[in-house]
Amino acid sequence: MKQSDLFIRTKRNIILSTLSIVLICLITFILVTQYFYKSRLFEGVDQQLLTYKNMILNEEIIKKKGKSEEVIIPAPLTPDLISFVWRGSELVDKSPHTYFGEGNYPVFPKEYEGGLITLESKGYTYRAVSFEKEGLSIQLLFNVDPQILSVKQLERANGLSLMVLIGITMALASYLAALVLKPVKKAYNEQVYFVQDASHEMRTPLAVIKGQVELMTAHPQDRIEEHFEQFSQMIGEIRSLEKLNRDLLLLSKEDIEGKTVGEAIEVKNFIGEIREFYTELAELQNKHFIVKVPDSPVNVKWDLEKVKRCLIILLENAFKYTDEEDTILLGVTKVNKSIVVRIEDSGIGISKEDQKRLFDRFFRSSDVRARGIEGSGIGLSLLQSLAHTLGIKVQVQSTYGKGTVFTLEIPLKMN
Ligand SMILES: Nc1ncnc2c1ncn2[C@@H]1O[C@H](COP(=O)(O)OP(=O)(O)OP(=O)(O)O)[C@@H](O)[C@H]1O
Ligand SMILES: [Mg+2]
Repeated sequence: MKQSDLFIRTKRNIILSTLSIVLICLITFILVTQYFYKSRLFEGVDQQLLTYKNMILNEEIIKKKGKSEEVIIPAPLTPDLISFVWRGSELVDKSPHTYFGEGNYPVFPKEYEGGLITLESKGYTYRAVSFEKEGLSIQLLFNVDPQILSVKQLERANGLSLMVLIGITMALASYLAALVLKPVKKAYNEQVYFVQDASHEMRTPLAVIKGQVELMTAHPQDRIEEHFEQFSQMIGEIRSLEKLNRDLLLLSKEDIEGKTVGEAIEVKNFIGEIREFYTELAELQNKHFIVKVPDSPVNVKWDLEKVKRCLIILLENAFKYTDEEDTILLGVTKVNKSIVVRIEDSGIGISKEDQKRLFDRFFRSSDVRARGIEGSGIGLSLLQSLAHTLGIKVQVQSTYGKGTVFTLEIPLKMN
């Protein structure tokens, strides 16, 4: 899959998943709210209807006036309550209101068996109850259109909020997805450049080897000794390929695993092996190698292999970027809870500009490239990865043309 497609698809997936989660939560919230609101919508109205019904049931409503009878039902607590009193099909009493007129009285369904119901009449909606008392049929109604309107308004408001929130969620999810993907994209690109740079670095030695082999195969009758120079050049190139291969492997391993294994050792013993090798190298290269270690023993618990690799990376550079008669100093001191290792050389130095890119993978100053000094620019980035794993602080000071000092602050104990 192409890199751009991968990121577009991932971004779309993040947005869609965020949106789905937010939508599920919002819709659930809205449905639950509406359910509770609706289920309690007529509660107040029903309460008033039942209270009024009880008031009527508890009072005598047929009052005798001389020989005639009069039906007087108690006055409702609120003018919204509508009452009709029937004797058979004759309307004996009704409360004053604007909803029902002559020939347009409320009709209860045929199957009505008592209790509270919702009635529709002429586009209005009511809660209603009907009951019998003293041979009279009494109907009580309450207009609930305002309550129904409030439900509609609530639904409309919820719908609108849902749309606005979907818009906001999409914008936020898109912004956050871009934010989350930024470092991933960067790491991905770095990986791609890494592979490109690595293959680029391998191209030159491979081209040299190929050229030499082609040259030799053109003269199959020649004896091996006649091509001694070509062979030694090829071996040199193969060695640098091997080193590059090993460093790349270590670097990627360090990036993925980055584990430490602490082993106890005394610092002077640890330095001893390194000291021996580089003292011999200094003699061979006609350079001065000075080692300074603490007088009293200092015990440390280090990942010996990795710390050693760090020192070797720096010592290798110090020897590579110095000339004959130059001095390389390896100084070890104990400062508080750390061991400070100083690797100082009086070599070619590094310009201020190059110091900024020193730890970038495959970086080599144009100066060392021009001088034809071998290397692939992996050493210091490997040092940086190792230092990160081991908790080592790395510092560099350099003056172009005068020399360089690398300082490692190594904790006394590593787990
Ligand atoms: N002690 C030093 N003196 C001068 N320049 C240095 C020194 N150490 C590092 N550099 C500069 O930093 C660059 C990167 O160093 P690094 O060790 O990463 O790579 P390298 O030495 O070129 O190759 P290799 O991967 O084989 O170590 C070098 O190419 C060089 O330009
Ligand atoms: Mg190096």
